[in-house]
Amino acid sequence: MLLGLGTICVVLVIYILKYVFWSSGPNPFETDTREPVRKMVHDQKEKKKVLKQGFLINKVPKDLDAVIIGSGIGGLGLAVLLAKVGKKVLVLEQHDRAGGCCHTFTEKGFEFDVGIHYIGDLQDHKPFRCMLDSMTNGQLQWEPLENPFDQVVLGPPENRRRYPIYSGRTRFPDELKKCFPGEEKAIDEYLRLVKKVGRGIWVLALLKLCPAPLAKFLVYTGLVRQVVNGLTENKDLRAVFAYIFGTYGNMPKDSSFGGASEIAYHMIPIIEKAGGAVLVRAPVNRILFNEANEACGVSVMKGDEEFPIHAPMVISNAGIFNTYQKLLPKELQTMPAIQKQLSMMKNGEGGLSVFVGLNGTKEELGLKADNYWIFTENNFDEMVEKYLNGEREESAKSIPLLFVASPSAKDSTWEERSPGKSTLSLVSFANYSWFEEWKDAKVTNRAEEYKELKQTFIDTALNVVLDIFPKITRDKIEYIDAGTPITNTYYIGAPKGEIYGADHGIGRFSPELSATLRPQTPLKNLYLTGQDVFLCGFAGALAGALTCGSAILNRNLHLDAIGLAKTMKFMKAKLKDE
Ligand SMILES: Cc1cc2nc3c(=O)[nH]c(=O)nc-3n(C[C@H](O)[C@H](O)[C@H](O)COP(=O)(O)OP(=O)(O)OC[C@H]3O[C@@H](n4cnc5c(N)ncnc54)[C@H](O)[C@@H]3O)c2cc1C
Ligand SMILES: *[C@@H]1O[C@H](CO)[C@@H](O)[C@H](O)[C@H]1NC(C)=O
Ligand SMILES: *[C@@H]1O[C@H](CO)[C@@H](O)[C@H](O)[C@H]1NC(C)=O
Repeated sequence: MLLGLGTICVVLVIYILKYVFWSSGPNPFETDTREPVRKMVHDQKEKKKVLKQGFLINKVPKDLDAVIIGSGIGGLGLAVLLAKVGKKVLVLEQHDRAGGCCHTFTEKGFEFDVGIHYIGDLQDHKPFRCMLDSMTNGQLQWEPLENPFDQVVLGPPENRRRYPIYSGRTRFPDELKKCFPGEEKAIDEYLRLVKKVGRGIWVLALLKLCPAPLAKFLVYTGLVRQVVNGLTENKDLRAVFAYIFGTYGNMPKDSSFGGASEIAYHMIPIIEKAGGAVLVRAPVNRILFNEANEACGVSVMKGDEEFPIHAPMVISNAGIFNTYQKLLPKELQTMPAIQKQLSMMKNGEGGLSVFVGLNGTKEELGLKADNYWIFTENNFDEMVEKYLNGEREESAKSIPLLFVASPSAKDSTWEERSPGKSTLSLVSFANYSWFEEWKDAKVTNRAEEYKELKQTFIDTALNVVLDIFPKITRDKIEYIDAGTPITNTYYIGAPKGEIYGADHGIGRFSPELSATLRPQTPLKNLYLTGQDVFLCGFAGALAGALTCGSAILNRNLHLDAIGLAKTMKFMKAKLKDE
């Protein structure tokens, strides 16, 4: 361990020095680009003009510097970084609107966020917040969640135990200790451990930038689980520990104003200002290569017609499996270097989402700006395995884990936009193979059997919700529908309906994979961005964009973002003094 840390330190110093003295590219975080907050636009038509610009070949800008496949935060974020240093970038999105997992949709007057319920670490001046502010020119606004911000609920209906999770450096452990008297030592020990792993994630960022052979010396493992069982005999506490591991370092204190589509809405103009464009209904069917096997563009498929688009650089936000298995010509797919990377990755778990539109305000329905993590038992490792490997009809009747949040209650602009209404979003996992047989049918017209299966999942999830939120009754439900793994394949291009990209099992953190899976691919001028390059989740995908931008611009943008955060803090402190 010590040796590992020592090596990490030495390499860090070398790389910090390298990037300080040899940074060759321009810095997108050079200046503070925040502008005064403009009035929020609620008019759907106005937003559509930005988010839903359909692909037409004559809308493609001339002399592109790069083309990006996919408009998730990984794709848009990278496009913004490149635009900020004057590059002309085209982003192509297969769906009918920009945003990827950050897109929103409206049904029966209810607006739903697809994949962002939870963003952490947004305190003023923290690098991550600073980065996001800079990348949206300061137009995103955030508001704090409730404290406690999370409720961990364990056990069956007749014996549910609730553990509120508070934010705050000391309040968080103090409140946890109140829930588990006698376990103080285990809690302190565990938090110390998780913090260490959290720091490792930062090291991961540098790993991606080091030359591969050097990076392989660095040791990083998530050896947490084995340790937990040695810390405590209390099964509920073990379960809470596992939850903390999944969310720690990502403790949410804020959520965004006006829904997740605000993010894309404020990024696109920055890309356009540099001469670029973000076009939707633009499915890329292949990446183009020259005779030297260097990427030189992409082809967009509209109907039966292919539109080739040329650019000196191609960056894929479509995930490693789509990129390597669908978009590369056959002869390049079989390259040993590509096969090796693929063999180290697995598809992540498929997602199940339930969207509920309710008649009533948050007060009437007892909804708050918080999140519920509901587990039917405290041994959820086993439960989840049993669930995912079970018969679909059986599994649909007992969903072992359910994340529940009310996006409307978290958004103070909601009441003005949709008075008297509320929404709930539920997220869980589902096995892709349960739904695979229907994957080729039209999304709005799938078989009765599919609808019935979906309904069983909905009923199961709804029963949990009705039990935990007693003010919600069936007559308040105006809209309810579910998205399955095949829904995700259609709308966000996830090949196996994954919600977090490639699998995040322990293998993902092996030094070998960490060092090999980088934004650079074995093919010249082809790069990867987004969650598969770094880690999943909004913050992970954005960090993926930063890592990819670092490789392209040949400087460490993680350090640049930290640098900007420091100056911004400095400037604010100075203003106060004056
Ligand atoms: C239901 C759900 C809930 C989630 N909850 C949270 C949460 O609370 N907190 C959190 O941090 N994260 C959450 N996530 C995960 C998070 O949203 C993702 O990890 C992150 O946004 C991924 O960003 P990305 O840019 O890597 O990929 P994506 O957002 O998936 O973007 C990839 C884009 O590429 C497009 N694409 C694919 N193939 C092609 C092609 N051939 N041509 C053109 N375009 C293509 C896709 O349509 C998509 O728009 C959730 C995800 C889901 C689905
Ligand atoms: C919503 O609830 C109110 C009373 O609480 C009722 O008057 C109204 O008709 C309901 N609306 C719908 C669409 O069900
Ligand atoms: C999904 O089900 C298939 C078939 O039953 C099984 O082989 C696979 O392991 C399951 N997937 C997961 C993630 O458990």
